[in-house]
Amino acid sequence: MHILHVVGARPNFMKCAPLLRALGQFQHVRQIPIRQTLVHTGQHYDAAMSEVFFRQLEMPEPDVNLAVGSATQAQQTAEVMLRLEPVLVDRKPDMVVVYGDVNSTVAAALVACKLGIRVAHVEAGLRSWDRAMPEEINRVVTDQVSDLLFTPSADADDNLRREGIEANRIHRVGNVMIDTLVRLLPQAVMPAELKNPGRFVLATLHRPSNVDDLPWLKQMLAALIEVSRTAQVVFPLHPRTAKSLAQTNAAHLKTRHLRFLPPLPYLEFLALQQNAQVVITDSGGIQEETSYLGVPCLTVRENTERPVTLTEGTNTLVGRDVPRLRRELERVLAQPRGKPQQIPLWDGHAAERIAQILTQTS
Ligand code: UD1
Repeated sequence: MHILHVVGARPNFMKCAPLLRALGQFQHVRQIPIRQTLVHTGQHYDAAMSEVFFRQLEMPEPDVNLAVGSATQAQQTAEVMLRLEPVLVDRKPDMVVVYGDVNSTVAAALVACKLGIRVAHVEAGLRSWDRAMPEEINRVVTDQVSDLLFTPSADADDNLRREGIEANRIHRVGNVMIDTLVRLLPQAVMPAELKNPGRFVLATLHRPSNVDDLPWLKQMLAALIEVSRTAQVVFPLHPRTAKSLAQTNAAHLKTRHLRFLPPLPYLEFLALQQNAQVVITDSGGIQEETSYLGVPCLTVRENTERPVTLTEGTNTLVGRDVPRLRRELERVLAQPRGKPQQIPLWDGHAAERIAQILTQTS
């Protein structure tokens, strides 16, 4: 059986790594003949956004790098499609596995299904119901054209059934991102420049709705500066955010207690999440990781495609509402630290369940 994985952007890597390992183990231990090919679309290309993750997650070098780089939504998606098609024609995989909701995900799923190759979508069924997010369009389209839909939680199954997807295509397996967290948590290490940070707030923002809207970004920054009077604020900058900050002239506003850092490797960022008093973010994956770790998370979005982090985890939506963010921060900073949350099937074994199903349905 030949399985071809397609990854492209930072959050894909921690989802793909455990499945590569699980399938590799199936091959060795159970003697199931599986050939794996890894394609990197090159959507993320900076060493700090890609290479370092491959190293820390112990992923093999990609067999193919499509080197698409950054562009508009349509250009980036189209470029992945154009460059992936000949690779699939040439390598003839039995199954293409795609991850999450980035442009590379939907592009690869479309190419594979039109070539008649079976598609498996890992992290299927999540919905924010917000079509202004490119990721939401990517999720809906990818799920429709996928043959196997691997979901992290019951809400995702419900969403898929509501969209007319047959029950036998849906497999609730749990959260592969948590597989990586569980395996690598013992190796988490604080960034060298922050060995003894004391009490700190971790902030990350990268969604276009937050960082491409410069007046709003300035308001957020002013709020963080205010917070930094009571607790140190650590803010690793996504390249998109760094670009916007450069345009706002706001970077000089940073204070001794508001630290901007470059994008961090996985193990360093994991240690920051684990040790933070609270995390302020607009990332999807961080809502899940903080929930698992029991660290309060304030999400600067109006909605989430991961409602289980609100009902069973540590996540609170604060929307685009600075007074609400301030209030929620005061509340969580006054509380004792939370306990790690137990969400069903977020147990470190999701990839093994996927491997089992992939090898049975081949
Ligand atoms: C993409 C995903 C988003 C995911 C995020 C994680 C889509 C639609 N969005 O957003 O869902 O949460 O990745 O990071 O697929 N850039 C660099 N170096 C890089 C990559 C990007 O400098 O290695 C800069 C470029 O200026 C680029 C910008 O970041 O224009 C945005 O990159 P892009 O891949 O288009 O989207 P992200 O914002 O990273």
